Amino acid sequence: MNEINSKSDKYLIKAIETFKRQIVVISDDYRILASRIKPDHTSMEDSELKGKTCHLAMFNRKNPCFNCPVARVKQTNRPSMNLIHIDEDSGDSSCLYAYPIKGPNGEKNAIVVLDFFLPSLDNFDEKRCASNAFLRNLLNSAVDGVIAADMTGQIIIFNETATEISGYSRKEALGSLNIRDIYPDDDARVIMKKMRSDEYGKKGIIKSYRQTVVRKDGTTTPILLNASTVYENDREIATIGVFHDLKETMRMEAELEKTQTQLLQSEKMSSLGKLAAGVAHQLNNPLGSITLFSQLMLEDYELNEDAKKDLLRIKSDAERCTSIVKELLEFARQTKRGVKPHNLNKIIARTLFLLRNQALFHNIEIIEDYEEKLPDIPADVQQLNHVFMNIILNAADAMEGKGRLEIATRLEKEHKKALVKISDSGPGIPEKTLPNIFEPFFTTKEQGKGTGLGLSMAYGIIEDHGGSITANNQDKGGAVFTIELPLKQ
Ligand SMILES: Nc1ncnc2c1ncn2[C@@H]1O[C@H](COP(=O)(O)OP(=O)(O)O)[C@@H](O)[C@H]1O
Ligand SMILES: [Mg+2]
Repeated sequence: MNEINSKSDKYLIKAIETFKRQIVVISDDYRILASRIKPDHTSMEDSELKGKTCHLAMFNRKNPCFNCPVARVKQTNRPSMNLIHIDEDSGDSSCLYAYPIKGPNGEKNAIVVLDFFLPSLDNFDEKRCASNAFLRNLLNSAVDGVIAADMTGQIIIFNETATEISGYSRKEALGSLNIRDIYPDDDARVIMKKMRSDEYGKKGIIKSYRQTVVRKDGTTTPILLNASTVYENDREIATIGVFHDLKETMRMEAELEKTQTQLLQSEKMSSLGKLAAGVAHQLNNPLGSITLFSQLMLEDYELNEDAKKDLLRIKSDAERCTSIVKELLEFARQTKRGVKPHNLNKIIARTLFLLRNQALFHNIEIIEDYEEKLPDIPADVQQLNHVFMNIILNAADAMEGKGRLEIATRLEKEHKKALVKISDSGPGIPEKTLPNIFEPFFTTKEQGKGTGLGLSMAYGIIEDHGGSITANNQDKGGAVFTIELPLKQ
């Protein structure tokens, strides 16, 4: 029995010997209780070392080493390990391992510290690499740009979306780009300052902050920034920002605003239209009486020339009022509609046929450019005649009877629309009045010449057809009216 014991002790001692590592047993305050230290670490004999602090004896340091695991052992009373160094070539790591023990006679806790080599952990490393790759992949697949930088501004993380937003490649960003370069002016500093205050979320964070990013080509992109500071023991060591591209959002906002304006415009038109129609109906009968009775007076009485002239004037003015009322009713679309498939080219050609021989058009060159493959579209011919007539007459008015009138039709297959463009070589529409021209009664023409109802009527008719009408000025001068009509009802 004894023999086996002493044999096993020998094995044990042999095993510890072969383990050729340094072992130090220390007290709570780092004083050496027992040790086996390699001679190149100290000139003292093991016996001389007793009672000295290990950091002083081995490294000539006044305080415990920063990478010593003993502090943690003291805190948790559990074993702890620190990685000291990894050999790049072999992948071997050198570590410090510490664990608590009770003294041989039941004394207060002592701590054992030993150093050892960990041969390269191939499999473990593979797993670590895989998990790193997964994290990288995660960052790269993020919909938003993710950029992290250290406190000097050097970039340490730059994901795929960040390259799209900024125009820099990852290599450029990680190699030579400074975070300050992607913000205009002094903005990086401003952001840092805001992050340190609690103005945008709590301290160390900036949330939903609208910012501009300067791309590699010098253009700018609007972004929404969420960023935070990375701390290590209360010390700022890095910043990480998530960049959300705002281009698409802003485009949608603009679109929404445009739609709202259009909605407001059509709302205004329709209420004015109803009002106008009501008034027109009430005026119709008295105007009819004025015309009728002045006619009767002319026929039934022997009047002197002056009186006749006055009556004729009354009659013709009443007739003019009647035609304005008619236009008003038309504008309010109180007349009957008949929608059937029609060829848009033919409708326009017919309108032009009527107008071409009028004196106003003698010095106007008319250029027709029709899309031949235009299918029939659902249309109320009479109403569309009105629309084109009005726009073409307006153009002739604007050109004062001299210039070039271009009419083109096109097929927009993709959007299932027919397109009509009517442009002139007149002075164009002043930018200031451009938003108003479709309003009822808006006219720049002198009294008696314009009612200001033509375009508002056109607007209503095209809207009724499910289409749209817009006016613009051409770069080369002159106005252009664009009408879009759906191919199907
Ligand atoms: N082709 C054009 N070039 C310049 N201004 C135009 C043109 N078409 C319309 N306008 C402007 O729009 C206004 C409104 O037109 P409209 O509603 O047809 O009423 P009206 O012709 O009776 O004035 C016109 O008075 C004019 O100022
Ligand atoms: Mg007009």
